Amino acid sequence: MNNHSTDGIFDEVTEFPDPETKRRLERLVGLDEVKERLVKEAMMQLQPSSLEEWSLRHFDHLLPALCFFQRRPPLFILAGDVGTGKTELAETFGDAVSRKAGIPILLHSLSLTARGTGAVGEMTRLISAAFAMIKSQAACLTDRQAATTGHILLIDEADALAQSRESAQMHHEDRAGVNALIRGIDDLAEGRRPVLVVMCTNRLRALDPAVMRRAAATFEFSRPNAEQRRVVLRNAFPEYVCSESELTRIVELTGNRDVGAGFSFSDITQRLVPSVVLAAYPNQGINAELIASVALTIKPTPTFTEV
Ligand SMILES: Nc1ncnc2c1ncn2[C@@H]1O[C@H](COP(=O)(O)OP(=O)(O)OP(=O)(O)O)[C@@H](O)[C@H]1O
Ligand SMILES: [Mg+2]
Repeated sequence: MNNHSTDGIFDEVTEFPDPETKRRLERLVGLDEVKERLVKEAMMQLQPSSLEEWSLRHFDHLLPALCFFQRRPPLFILAGDVGTGKTELAETFGDAVSRKAGIPILLHSLSLTARGTGAVGEMTRLISAAFAMIKSQAACLTDRQAATTGHILLIDEADALAQSRESAQMHHEDRAGVNALIRGIDDLAEGRRPVLVVMCTNRLRALDPAVMRRAAATFEFSRPNAEQRRVVLRNAFPEYVCSESELTRIVELTGNRDVGAGFSFSDITQRLVPSVVLAAYPNQGINAELIASVALTIKPTPTFTEV
C-alpha cells in the first residue's frame, strides 16, 4: 500500500489499486449492490461525457434528465448499525473503481482531529483546508476529458462533524464548521471534478438536514441475516472444520438469542472467529462443538439506537 505524506488534515492518503484492499473488498458479504452503485457513480465522475455518449447512443438526443446531473453534489452517506461494513466498504471500494477505470484512485481520510482543538475557527479552517486541498488536486474536467486520477474524500464518523446545527448544545464554532462542510460540498458540485465524498455515520438523524439533502444517495447498512452469517462463517471455517448441518446450528446460535439482536458482521469476524481460534490454539483443533460453545459465551453488540 502506498501512503503519501499528509499534513495533519488527512489521517492518511492511500493509493489504489492495491492487492490487500482488493482482498478486503472481496471479503465483504451482502454489500454488492451498494458497491456497484458507488463504482458506477465514481465512473460517472471520472468520465462525465460517458453519460452523454450513452444518451446519444440510445436516443440520438441528450436526454433532458441529464441536466439533473449537473451540479449534483458527489456526496454519498453510508449509515447504519455498528459493525455492518460502512467503514470497510468506504475504505475499499476505490480499489474496484481504480481497476475498472484503469487509473489510480487516491483515498483521503479526513482525520478526526480535524474536529479541531476547540480554538475558535479551528474546525472551520481545517474543513475548508481539506476541501481546498482536494480541489487543488482534482481539477475540473472539460467536456470530453476523462480523469487521469480519481479522489475519494472519506469522512468517517461524520456525525461528529456534520451534526445538525439545530442542536441546542451546539457551539457556534461547530455551526461554522458545518457551514464550511456544506460550502465545500457545494463547491465540488460546481464543476466536473473526479471526486466522491463519502460520509459514514451511526446516527443518520443527527446529521444536519442541509448535509443530508445534498447526498446523491444514502445507503442504510444493517446486521447480517442468517444467510449472510452463514457465508461469513463458512469463509472462516471450511467444510473440513464443520459440516453443512453443523454450520446451520452455529448460524442459529449467532442469530437473535432473545437478546434483541443477532451478531453483527464484526461480532463474527472480530470476536467469535478469533476467540474460537484462540480457544483451540496451540493444542487442539477446531470442531463445530467448540465453535458453538464459544458462540454461546458471546453476547451480540447492542444495537445502536439513536437518541
Ligand atoms: N458486510 C460484511 N461482510 C463481511 N465482514 C464484514 C462486513 N461488515 C463488516 N465486516 C467485518 O466487521 C469489521 C468492522 O466493520 P466496519 O469497521 O466497516 O464497521 P462499521 O459499519 O464502520 O461500524 P461502526 O459503525 O462501529 O464504525 C470489518 O473489518 C469486517 O471484518
Ligand atoms: Mg465505522
